[in-house]
Amino acid sequence: MQNAELILKSCEIPAVPMVAMKVLRLVNDPNTEIDALQEAIMADQSLSARVLRVANSVFYGSRRNIDTVSDAIVMTGFQTIKNLVLAAATKDVYKKFGLLEQKLWEHSIGVSVAASILAREVGGLSAEEATVAGLLHDVGKVVMNNSQPERFALLTEMVYNEHVTFAQREKEVFGFGHAEVGGMFAQRWDFSEGLCDVIRRHHFESYDDLLDLEPSARTLCTVIALADALCVRLGVGYRGPMADLVLKDAECRDILKISDDRYAEIIEEFKLAYVTEKSSYQT
Ligand SMILES: [Fe+2]
Ligand SMILES: [Fe+2]
Repeated sequence: MQNAELILKSCEIPAVPMVAMKVLRLVNDPNTEIDALQEAIMADQSLSARVLRVANSVFYGSRRNIDTVSDAIVMTGFQTIKNLVLAAATKDVYKKFGLLEQKLWEHSIGVSVAASILAREVGGLSAEEATVAGLLHDVGKVVMNNSQPERFALLTEMVYNEHVTFAQREKEVFGFGHAEVGGMFAQRWDFSEGLCDVIRRHHFESYDDLLDLEPSARTLCTVIALADALCVRLGVGYRGPMADLVLKDAECRDILKISDDRYAEIIEEFKLAYVTEKSSYQT
């Protein structure tokens, strides 16, 4: 049996890139001037390009093109910039980017899109925070895949062949779960306490297990679990739909008070938003 801590040590987790770290610090400071943020973003060419592309796609059809980073910041806002930076930084965590990694990445985008729709639906949560939590909820899988790709490929095959979830088989293959190792990763990267909690607890057994968390962290965990189930059932980030898995969606919908009719509408809204978001994250 292995230990999550050892795996984390063995797999050379990249440090949060310096540029990302600096941008995140600036975005979180309400006194930050746009010029300082522009300067930090422009230190990374691919980040600058991504910010400009997203700003232009969001404001497609406006009378002029957005061609400076400072205009992009003004148009999209600090929160969007923060998302782009986290997304870019976590994509760098992947050691290689083959088919399996592409699927993991699509799943993260899908869960982030679903989580932001659900956060708006239930209220009392920041849609931005839900987006970031969705994007990073399965970062533990990336760590496991980087560290032991053959073993992770075996686990993935089990998931497809036996129609089970990762959480149901990973302990026997790895000896620990992706939520646990993801939580450690999040701590090491100095993510906020709330984000660490959500990553660590998103496969909770029962809602009662979350009672030690702040109410908003509890709701966010439930939103992420539901967003995850929505994506798994539709096959977002999987080879195909996994409609027959035993998941916690019914329980989560109950807790979040989302009716059948409303959930059906949310799924349709998700399908449209996912296509748009996925293209905005492509590098
Ligand atoms: Fe997960
Ligand atoms: Fe997931």
